[in-house]
Amino acid sequence: MKLVGLVGWRGMVGSVLMQRMQEEGDFAHIEPVFFTTSNTGGAAPAMAKNETILKDANSIAELSKCDIIISCQGGDYTSAVFPQLRAAGWDGYWIDAASTLRMEKDAVIVLDPVNLHVIKDALGKGVKNYIGGNCTVSCMMMGLGGLFQHDLIDWMSSMTYQAASGGGAQHMRELLTQFGTINSSVKALLENPASAILEIDRQVLATQHGYSADEIKQFGAPLAGNLIPWIDKDLGNGQSKEEWKAGAETNKILGRGVDFGSKEIPVDGLCVRIGAMRCHSQALTIKLKKDVPLDEINDIIASNNEWVKLVSNTREASVRDLSPAAVTGSLTIPVGRVRKMSMGGDYLSAFTVGDQLLWGAAEPLRRMLRILLD
Ligand code: HSE
Repeated sequence: MKLVGLVGWRGMVGSVLMQRMQEEGDFAHIEPVFFTTSNTGGAAPAMAKNETILKDANSIAELSKCDIIISCQGGDYTSAVFPQLRAAGWDGYWIDAASTLRMEKDAVIVLDPVNLHVIKDALGKGVKNYIGGNCTVSCMMMGLGGLFQHDLIDWMSSMTYQAASGGGAQHMRELLTQFGTINSSVKALLENPASAILEIDRQVLATQHGYSADEIKQFGAPLAGNLIPWIDKDLGNGQSKEEWKAGAETNKILGRGVDFGSKEIPVDGLCVRIGAMRCHSQALTIKLKKDVPLDEINDIIASNNEWVKLVSNTREASVRDLSPAAVTGSLTIPVGRVRKMSMGGDYLSAFTVGDQLLWGAAEPLRRMLRILLD
């Protein structure tokens, strides 16, 4: 059995990964080795078989024994350890949730329901680094895989509504704490049906403006009852890094662009943080290469993979099925609000939602592991 090193399995993405691996029986096919950055020598979790002691995640010697390593430890860890490991001659497969290596020439972004051909091709060429994609991009591609597969997209604009979890566990806590503070500040007024809504609103705003630096430590601004129209670094050209990733990663996942000797599909838009917990949503404006009838488009979207679910473009279905609360904890990727826009028959709108900890993070990694084990 392959020796599979697991790093960062206790964090948020890592915990979702462990849960999915247990649900899918992945541990039956591997000999897991659990690594730690803080508790070397401690007891490994119940899924351990022969290696029941936690190993040092910074020990190149211990890591080097593994055939495959899956890291959910984050970008700083990858930057520190991965080069040393390769420099020491380690030739195993590196599967990583962090973005550090994503755009490297010798790395593939994994999302096998969409790009199994790219993964297989890379495996054939001896590529050893397989990296999970940006959550927004992965969830979007799981939803619109059919349109990409049929090469129907001329360009696409994606306006996102991204959940707190994209920032990390502390960000989710901060959001909930802010919601709580807001509620407390107007609780008495809310309980009195005769109180004036504008007085409640004034108090909410006073609370939002009055947060201490500590209360907005993660996001840098209030998120509860608010939104933040910037995610990740400022690239200095008016675009955020999250927005840049949409185009760069979509094309890399598809094996398109100059590196592959083909034309990129332009994908760009605005990325916005909202007060959802762990599902990223996005509104898409798609310029089609040709005017394809809507029923054909619906079929192409719905039949692409077993997780995509077409939501009929009605008020009732959209309200019920097309929201973070409806999707959280599920691998289903609903795509709805699909209609031709008033600009013309080759302009399509769509809205999609995905659990950013599942298809957006953990799921492509465990599926890559299974591909390596097959
Ligand atoms: N960058 C994403 C976000 C998370 O902040 O929502 C992971 O890809």
